[in-house]
Amino acid sequence: MKKALVAYFSATGTTKKVAVSLAEAEGADLFEIVPEKPYTAEDLNWQNKQSRSTVEMQDLNCRPAVISKVENMEQYEVVFLGFPIWWGREPSIVDTFLEAYDFAGKAIVPFCTSGGNGIGFVGDRIKALLGGKAMVVNGQRMGGETSAEDLKIWADGLDL
Ligand SMILES: Cc1cc2nc3c(=O)[nH]c(=O)nc-3n(C[C@H](O)[C@H](O)[C@H](O)COP(=O)(O)O)c2cc1C
Repeated sequence: MKKALVAYFSATGTTKKVAVSLAEAEGADLFEIVPEKPYTAEDLNWQNKQSRSTVEMQDLNCRPAVISKVENMEQYEVVFLGFPIWWGREPSIVDTFLEAYDFAGKAIVPFCTSGGNGIGFVGDRIKALLGGKAMVVNGQRMGGETSAEDLKIWADGLDL
């Protein structure tokens, strides 16, 4: 079996729950993308045009700082990457994570939670961001209550 990492960003815990179950189900290591400055409820208010998340997401070049670091990224062949959908895509802090490591030769498997939107074109966005160096699969939206059993069926079915 390939050595896998489940890396995730989660502002309010939904994606975290899925990531923890997936790591357990796959026997993978778990890594949290931790923002230098935690997101408060006010930061996450998408109805406020001035809120931190709105401002960050409007700027495609925004890269919020991350304080956690994956040790020995070289050891992983597969990286599951979990995040909430913000404004139809991955939060910019996920882009910070993606630009911090060399993913050449690895498979990246995005997964998201959301209020309803699917994962859309996030796989293509990630591929473009990495300059085509990694193998990026399209990925999948998961319900917050997806069971470890269902996550395992999904992950094993990817045939990576
Ligand atoms: C700033 C912000 C933007 C969001 N944008 C979307 C969106 O475009 N589509 C959607 O379905 N859900 C959207 N959501 C809902 C989150 O994707 C959803 O609540 C997610 O499960 C939260 O995950 P977390 O608890 O791991 O942070 C948004 C939430 C926030 C805070």
